[in-house]
Amino acid sequence: MSYRLMSVTVEDGKDIARNNTTAFWTDPSWRLGWTIPLETLIRHNELRGPANLLRDREIKRYQKAVDEDGNLVGYVRFRLPEGDKWRDAWPEARVPDVSDEERKRIDELFAEGTKDYEAGIRDLSIVDEPMSAMHHKLREARKGHMEIEFLAVHPDHRNKGIANRLVRKGIEIADQLGLDMYVLALEGGYKIYKGCGFQVLEHLELDDSVYGGAGVFHRYYLERKAVGGPVVGKDDGPGLPIETV
Ligand SMILES: CC(C)(COP(=O)(O)OP(=O)(O)OC[C@H]1O[C@@H](n2cnc3c(N)ncnc32)[C@H](O)[C@@H]1OP(=O)(O)O)[C@@H](O)C(=O)NCCC(=O)NCCS
Repeated sequence: MSYRLMSVTVEDGKDIARNNTTAFWTDPSWRLGWTIPLETLIRHNELRGPANLLRDREIKRYQKAVDEDGNLVGYVRFRLPEGDKWRDAWPEARVPDVSDEERKRIDELFAEGTKDYEAGIRDLSIVDEPMSAMHHKLREARKGHMEIEFLAVHPDHRNKGIANRLVRKGIEIADQLGLDMYVLALEGGYKIYKGCGFQVLEHLELDDSVYGGAGVFHRYYLERKAVGGPVVGKDDGPGLPIETV
Protein backbone atom coordinates (compact mmCIF):
# COMPACT_ATOMS: atom_id res chain seq x y z
CA MET A 1 0.00 0.00 0.00
CA SER A 2 1.38 3.42 -0.89
CA TYR A 3 0.26 6.74 0.58
CA ARG A 4 0.19 10.30 -0.72
CA LEU A 5 0.35 13.58 1.19
CA MET A 6 -2.16 16.18 0.07
CA SER A 7 -3.60 19.50 1.18
CA VAL A 8 -6.95 19.72 2.98
CA THR A 9 -10.34 21.35 2.32
CA VAL A 10 -13.47 21.67 4.50
CA GLU A 11 -14.85 18.67 2.59
CA ASP A 12 -12.31 16.58 4.52
CA GLY A 13 -13.74 17.70 7.88
CA LYS A 14 -15.76 14.56 8.47
CA ASP A 15 -13.02 12.14 7.48
CA ILE A 16 -10.48 14.01 9.58
CA ALA A 17 -12.79 13.83 12.59
CA ARG A 18 -13.19 10.07 12.21
CA ASN A 19 -9.48 9.50 11.64
CA ASN A 20 -8.33 11.67 14.53
CA THR A 21 -10.85 10.51 17.09
CA THR A 22 -10.18 6.84 16.27
CA ALA A 23 -6.41 7.47 16.41
CA PHE A 24 -6.41 9.26 19.77
CA TRP A 25 -8.81 6.73 21.27
CA THR A 26 -5.88 4.28 21.29
CA ASP A 27 -4.06 6.50 23.82
CA PRO A 28 -5.36 5.40 27.27
CA SER A 29 -4.73 8.72 29.02
CA TRP A 30 -6.59 10.59 26.26
CA ARG A 31 -9.49 8.15 26.17
CA LEU A 32 -9.97 8.57 29.90
CA GLY A 33 -11.07 12.16 29.27
CA TRP A 34 -14.40 11.07 27.73
CA THR A 35 -17.59 9.79 29.29
CA ILE A 36 -19.18 8.84 25.94
CA PRO A 37 -18.51 5.92 23.56
CA LEU A 38 -16.11 6.31 20.63
CA GLU A 39 -18.84 6.27 17.96
CA THR A 40 -20.78 9.03 19.75
CA LEU A 41 -17.67 11.17 20.03
CA ILE A 42 -16.91 10.59 16.34
CA ARG A 43 -20.42 11.77 15.41
CA HIS A 44 -20.00 14.99 17.42
CA ASN A 45 -16.57 15.60 15.93
CA GLU A 46 -17.83 14.97 12.39
CA LEU A 47 -20.28 17.85 12.87
CA ARG A 48 -17.61 20.09 14.39
CA GLY A 49 -14.83 19.17 11.97
CA PRO A 50 -15.44 21.56 9.02
CA ALA A 51 -15.73 24.62 11.30
CA ASN A 52 -12.54 23.65 13.10
CA LEU A 53 -10.72 23.63 9.77
CA LEU A 54 -11.72 27.26 9.12
CA ARG A 55 -10.55 28.54 12.50
CA ASP A 56 -7.45 30.81 12.37
CA ARG A 57 -6.98 29.87 8.74
CA GLU A 58 -4.33 32.58 8.21
CA ILE A 59 -1.86 30.72 10.41
CA LYS A 60 -2.97 27.07 10.32
CA ARG A 61 -1.53 24.69 7.75
CA TYR A 62 -2.58 21.10 7.07
CA GLN A 63 -1.59 17.92 5.35
CA LYS A 64 -3.52 14.68 5.04
CA ALA A 65 -2.26 11.24 4.06
CA VAL A 66 -4.48 9.20 1.77
CA ASP A 67 -4.19 5.56 0.77
CA GLU A 68 -4.43 4.17 -2.77
CA ASP A 69 -8.24 4.11 -2.54
CA GLY A 70 -8.37 7.78 -1.53
CA ASN A 71 -9.20 7.08 2.14
CA LEU A 72 -7.88 9.60 4.64
CA VAL A 73 -5.58 7.72 7.03
CA GLY A 74 -3.34 10.41 8.52
CA TYR A 75 -3.45 14.07 9.42
CA VAL A 76 -1.17 16.81 10.70
CA ARG A 77 -1.85 20.43 11.64
CA PHE A 78 0.80 23.12 11.93
CA ARG A 79 0.50 26.60 13.36
CA LEU A 80 2.65 29.36 11.89
CA PRO A 81 3.71 32.31 14.03
CA GLU A 82 1.18 35.14 14.32
CA GLY A 83 1.59 38.19 12.14
CA ASP A 84 1.34 39.44 8.58
CA LYS A 85 4.77 38.10 7.71
CA TRP A 86 3.56 34.50 7.65
CA ARG A 87 0.05 34.93 6.23
CA ASP A 88 1.16 34.02 2.70
CA ALA A 89 3.64 31.32 3.63
CA TRP A 90 2.97 27.76 2.39
CA PRO A 91 -0.37 28.77 0.82
CA GLU A 92 -1.02 25.31 -0.62
CA ALA A 93 -1.41 23.91 2.88
CA ARG A 94 -3.99 26.48 3.97
CA VAL A 95 -7.65 25.40 3.92
CA PRO A 96 -9.42 27.29 1.11
CA ASP A 97 -12.02 29.75 2.39
CA VAL A 98 -15.75 29.19 1.73
CA SER A 99 -18.69 31.46 0.87
CA ASP A 100 -20.63 33.26 3.64
CA GLU A 101 -23.58 30.97 3.00
CA GLU A 102 -21.41 27.84 3.34
CA ARG A 103 -19.77 29.20 6.47
CA LYS A 104 -23.18 29.76 8.04
CA ARG A 105 -24.13 26.14 7.32
CA ILE A 106 -20.81 24.94 8.74
CA ASP A 107 -21.25 27.05 11.90
CA GLU A 108 -24.71 25.56 12.43
CA LEU A 109 -23.29 22.04 12.18
CA PHE A 110 -20.60 23.01 14.68
CA ALA A 111 -23.19 24.30 17.18
CA GLU A 112 -25.20 21.10 16.81
CA GLY A 113 -22.12 18.92 17.40
CA THR A 114 -20.96 20.97 20.37
CA LYS A 115 -24.11 20.63 22.52
CA ASP A 116 -23.53 17.03 23.55
CA TYR A 117 -19.78 17.03 22.92
CA GLU A 118 -19.11 19.26 25.92
CA ALA A 119 -21.29 17.10 28.15
CA GLY A 120 -19.08 14.14 27.17
CA ILE A 121 -15.86 15.70 28.47
CA ARG A 122 -14.65 14.30 31.76
CA ASP A 123 -12.97 16.61 34.25
CA LEU A 124 -9.35 15.43 34.64
CA SER A 125 -8.05 18.69 36.06
CA ILE A 126 -5.35 17.10 38.23
CA VAL A 127 -3.51 15.98 35.08
CA ASP A 128 -4.87 18.53 32.59
CA GLU A 129 -3.91 21.64 34.51
CA PRO A 130 -0.12 21.05 34.59
CA MET A 131 -0.22 20.24 30.87
CA SER A 132 -2.20 23.36 30.00
CA ALA A 133 0.05 25.54 32.15
CA MET A 134 3.18 24.16 30.51
CA HIS A 135 1.71 24.44 27.04
CA HIS A 136 0.71 28.04 27.66
CA LYS A 137 4.15 28.91 29.04
CA LEU A 138 5.99 27.38 26.08
CA ARG A 139 3.65 28.84 23.50
CA GLU A 140 4.20 32.30 24.99
CA ALA A 141 7.98 31.80 24.96
CA ARG A 142 8.00 30.48 21.40
CA LYS A 143 5.74 32.87 19.58
CA GLY A 144 8.12 32.96 16.62
CA HIS A 145 8.08 29.18 16.15
CA MET A 146 6.03 26.88 13.98
CA GLU A 147 4.03 24.57 16.25
CA ILE A 148 2.91 21.06 15.41
CA GLU A 149 -0.55 21.09 16.92
CA PHE A 150 -1.98 17.74 15.93
CA LEU A 151 -0.71 14.46 14.50
CA ALA A 152 -2.84 11.35 14.06
CA VAL A 153 -2.61 8.16 12.01
CA HIS A 154 -5.46 5.67 11.83
CA PRO A 155 -4.74 2.46 13.81
CA ASP A 156 -5.18 0.31 10.65
CA HIS A 157 -2.33 2.14 8.90
CA ARG A 158 0.32 2.47 11.58
CA ASN A 159 4.04 1.61 11.45
CA LYS A 160 4.26 2.38 7.76
CA GLY A 161 6.06 5.69 8.15
CA ILE A 162 2.99 7.92 7.60
CA ALA A 163 3.49 10.04 10.72
CA ASN A 164 7.15 10.45 9.88
CA ARG A 165 6.27 11.68 6.39
CA LEU A 166 3.68 14.14 7.72
CA VAL A 167 6.09 15.58 10.26
CA ARG A 168 8.99 15.71 7.81
CA LYS A 169 6.85 17.66 5.33
CA GLY A 170 6.43 20.37 7.97
CA ILE A 171 10.13 20.28 8.81
CA GLU A 172 11.04 20.73 5.14
CA ILE A 173 8.84 23.84 4.98
CA ALA A 174 10.01 25.18 8.35
CA ASP A 175 13.63 24.87 7.23
CA GLN A 176 12.88 26.70 3.99
CA LEU A 177 11.17 29.48 5.97
CA GLY A 178 13.90 29.52 8.63
CA LEU A 179 11.40 28.70 11.40
CA ASP A 180 12.20 26.77 14.55
CA MET A 181 9.50 24.29 15.60
CA TYR A 182 8.05 23.03 18.84
CA VAL A 183 5.50 20.44 19.84
CA LEU A 184 3.71 18.97 22.83
CA ALA A 185 4.02 15.21 22.33
CA LEU A 186 2.07 12.28 23.62
CA GLU A 187 4.00 9.07 24.10
CA GLY A 188 3.23 7.88 20.55
CA GLY A 189 4.65 11.02 18.97
CA TYR A 190 7.71 11.32 21.19
CA LYS A 191 9.87 8.77 19.32
CA ILE A 192 8.87 10.22 15.97
CA TYR A 193 9.91 13.72 16.98
CA LYS A 194 13.16 12.53 18.53
CA GLY A 195 13.90 10.68 15.30
CA CYS A 196 13.24 13.90 13.38
CA GLY A 197 15.83 15.84 15.38
CA PHE A 198 13.63 17.43 18.06
CA GLN A 199 15.19 17.94 21.51
CA VAL A 200 13.26 17.65 24.78
CA LEU A 201 12.59 21.00 26.50
CA GLU A 202 10.37 19.74 29.31
CA HIS A 203 9.06 16.39 30.42
CA LEU A 204 5.92 15.97 32.54
CA GLU A 205 5.31 12.74 34.41
CA LEU A 206 1.63 12.55 35.29
CA ASP A 207 -0.54 10.01 37.06
CA ASP A 208 -4.19 9.44 36.20
CA SER A 209 -4.81 6.54 38.62
CA VAL A 210 -6.87 8.90 40.81
CA TYR A 211 -9.40 8.86 37.93
CA GLY A 212 -9.19 5.10 37.47
CA GLY A 213 -6.63 5.40 34.66
CA ALA A 214 -3.61 3.21 33.96
CA GLY A 215 -1.31 5.30 36.18
CA VAL A 216 1.87 7.10 35.16
CA PHE A 217 2.04 8.59 31.69
CA HIS A 218 4.26 11.15 30.02
CA ARG A 219 4.05 14.33 28.02
CA TYR A 220 7.05 15.84 26.28
CA TYR A 221 7.67 19.34 24.99
CA LEU A 222 10.19 19.30 22.21
CA GLU A 223 11.88 21.83 19.99
CA ARG A 224 13.72 21.70 16.70
CA LYS A 225 15.98 24.44 15.44
CA ALA A 226 15.70 25.32 11.76
CA VAL A 227 18.49 23.89 9.63
CA GLY A 228 19.87 25.88 6.76
CA GLY A 229 18.03 29.11 7.50
CA PRO A 230 15.50 30.96 5.41
CA VAL A 231 15.67 31.25 1.64
CA VAL A 232 14.80 34.92 2.09
CA GLY A 233 16.02 36.98 5.04
CA LYS A 234 13.99 36.56 8.20
CA ASP A 235 12.86 40.19 7.97
CA ASP A 236 12.32 40.07 4.24
CA GLY A 237 8.58 39.62 3.94
CA PRO A 238 6.72 36.31 3.79
CA GLY A 239 8.52 33.09 3.02
CA LEU A 240 8.64 31.94 -0.54
CA PRO A 241 5.59 30.07 -1.80
CA ILE A 242 6.59 26.44 -1.76
CA GLU A 243 5.34 23.71 -4.03
CA THR A 244 3.76 20.85 -2.14
CA VAL A 245 2.33 17.54 -3.21
C1 LIG B 1 1.84 8.32 17.03
C2 LIG B 1 1.28 8.01 15.66
C3 LIG B 1 0.91 9.34 14.97
C4 LIG B 1 2.34 7.28 14.84
O1 LIG B 1 1.88 7.07 13.50
P1 LIG B 1 2.60 6.04 12.50
O2 LIG B 1 2.22 6.44 11.13
O3 LIG B 1 2.32 4.67 12.94
O4 LIG B 1 4.14 6.37 12.75
P2 LIG B 1 5.36 5.93 11.80
O5 LIG B 1 4.97 4.72 11.03
O6 LIG B 1 5.86 7.11 11.07
O7 LIG B 1 6.46 5.58 12.85
C5 LIG B 1 6.18 4.65 13.83
C6 LIG B 1 7.13 3.51 13.74
O8 LIG B 1 7.15 2.97 12.44
C7 LIG B 1 8.50 2.90 11.97
N1 LIG B 1 8.53 3.15 10.54
C8 LIG B 1 8.88 4.29 9.93
N2 LIG B 1 8.83 4.14 8.61
C9 LIG B 1 8.39 2.88 8.39
C10 LIG B 1 8.11 2.15 7.24
N3 LIG B 1 8.25 2.68 6.01
N4 LIG B 1 7.66 0.89 7.37
C11 LIG B 1 7.50 0.34 8.57
N5 LIG B 1 7.79 0.99 9.73
C12 LIG B 1 8.21 2.26 9.63
C13 LIG B 1 9.19 3.98 12.72
O9 LIG B 1 10.58 3.72 12.74
C14 LIG B 1 8.54 3.86 14.04
O10 LIG B 1 9.09 2.75 14.71
P3 LIG B 1 9.66 2.84 16.16
O11 LIG B 1 8.51 2.45 17.02
O12 LIG B 1 10.75 1.88 16.18
O13 LIG B 1 10.08 4.26 16.37
C15 LIG B 1 0.01 7.13 15.75
O14 LIG B 1 0.35 5.99 16.49
C16 LIG B 1 -1.17 7.82 16.43
O15 LIG B 1 -1.96 8.49 15.78
N6 LIG B 1 -1.29 7.66 17.78
C17 LIG B 1 -2.39 8.24 18.58
C18 LIG B 1 -2.34 9.75 18.62
C19 LIG B 1 -0.97 10.26 18.99
O16 LIG B 1 -0.31 9.81 19.91
N7 LIG B 1 -0.53 11.26 18.19
C20 LIG B 1 0.76 11.89 18.39
C21 LIG B 1 0.54 13.10 19.22
S1 LIG B 1 2.08 13.87 19.53
